[in-house]
Amino acid sequence: MNTNGVPNEKFTFSDKEKVEKILSHYSDKKSATLPLLHLAQSEKGYISGAVINSVADLVDCHPAVVMDCVSFYTMLYTKPHGRHIIQVCQTLSCSLNGSDALVDQVADKYGIQPGETTKDDRLTLMKVECLGSCGTAPVVQINNEYHEGLSEEKFADLLESLP
Ligand code: FES
Repeated sequence: MNTNGVPNEKFTFSDKEKVEKILSHYSDKKSATLPLLHLAQSEKGYISGAVINSVADLVDCHPAVVMDCVSFYTMLYTKPHGRHIIQVCQTLSCSLNGSDALVDQVADKYGIQPGETTKDDRLTLMKVECLGSCGTAPVVQINNEYHEGLSEEKFADLLESLP
């Protein structure tokens, strides 16, 4: 454990060529922080303390700087999650168009609150800030796909259709 309470463990990237390629794109190594975090997440599934330490080493900065970056972006996950990440926009347009009811719908049907994952690791529920499609509110992102103008009925069908 270091002085910031972060374990000293390190993550080993399996695709070292890709790491080198990412680093070679930037004259300032720190600019490679986000791409390296995305690569680590694609390999490990989430951003652990070990990932933060390794990325900090690669870009030559303190782990706290990398942690700042991780905590800013909702698409970077700091703990294991389900196969389907349900991100419900909670910003104004979506909120006025019923996104709270969509969150309640998942909570009631699957017994999870925002930030939680179902016991079978199928669904993770998250409340997120504006997804950038306010004109089609309410918007839910499931993994990398947007679902817009959702009614409760459409959302229920969508959730049922997820493997
Ligand atoms: S407020 Fe929901 S997408 Fe912008």
